[in-house]
Amino acid sequence: MIQIKTDEDIEMMRESAELAAEVLLMIEPYVKPGVTTNRLNDLCHDLIVSRGAVPSPLGYKGFPKSICSSINNEICHGIPSDRKLRNGDIVNLDITTYLNEFHGDTSKTLHVGSPRPKSSRLVETCREALQKAIEVVRPGAHFGDIGATIQTFTEGRGYSVVREFCGHGIGRSFHEDPQVLHFGRFGEGAELKKGMVFTIEPMINEGKCDLEILSDKWTAVTKDGSRSAQFEHTVAVWDNGCKVLTRLDGKTTF
Ligand code: MF3
Ligand code: CO
Ligand code: CO
Repeated sequence: MIQIKTDEDIEMMRESAELAAEVLLMIEPYVKPGVTTNRLNDLCHDLIVSRGAVPSPLGYKGFPKSICSSINNEICHGIPSDRKLRNGDIVNLDITTYLNEFHGDTSKTLHVGSPRPKSSRLVETCREALQKAIEVVRPGAHFGDIGATIQTFTEGRGYSVVREFCGHGIGRSFHEDPQVLHFGRFGEGAELKKGMVFTIEPMINEGKCDLEILSDKWTAVTKDGSRSAQFEHTVAVWDNGCKVLTRLDGKTTF
C-alpha cells in the first residue's frame, strides 16, 4: 500500500530531508585524496546527532556505520573503513537522517582530487538521469515513466542500469512501498498521487549491470569491475509536479 502523506507530514519530513542535504554539503570539502571513509562517516555522524537526529543506517538490519560510502566499482551500501580515498577515485556518499519521526534520504557521487574525464561523463549522466526523472513526477504520471526516463537516457549514453536496487517509499519507515524501479516502460506501474513521498536513486554502471555482494554481506560491486555512479533525492508528489525535499535551494548542486 502506497501511503499518502498529509501536508503536515511533508513539512515535518522536509526538516529531516534538509538535514540530510546539509550533511552532504558539509562533507563535500572533506572529500580529498588521503581521507578515510571512516573519517567522513564520523564527521557526518557528529553533525546528525548534534541536531538531535539519528543516522538511519546505523544498526539498520545490522549495518555497522552511519553513512554508506561506495568507491569506484562499488555500486551501493559500501561500509566506511580505514581505506584512504585516492586521486581520481569516485565515491558515493549516501546520507539518511531520522528527525521528527521521519526519514530523509539523499546521496551524491563525488570526484576525489582531479576528475578523470571518463568518470566525469558517467557521474554527469547519472546526475542528469535523476534530474530528468524528477521532471516527470506529477499527479497522474506513472512509476514506469520514472524508470523509462532513466533507462532510455542512460542506455542511450552507453551505460547500464542496476536492477537489484531501487528507490523506495519513505516516511516514518526507512523503506516503504512502492519500489521505485530505475528501468521500465512509460505508462506502466502505479499512478502517482499528490502526497506520495519516495526516493529516486539511480545506480548506473560503465560496463554491464550485473553485480555481486562482497563477503561483508553489504557492499554491492559491479561484476565486471567497471565504475558505478549514483545520485538520490527524496521527493513528494505535489500539485503540478513535485517538491524535492532533499534540495536546499541555491546550495544543493544536483
Ligand atoms: N540509504 C540507502 C538507500 O538509499 C539505504 C542504506 S541501507 C544501509 O536506500 F543499511 F546500508 F544503510
Ligand atoms: Co534510498
Ligand atoms: Co540513500
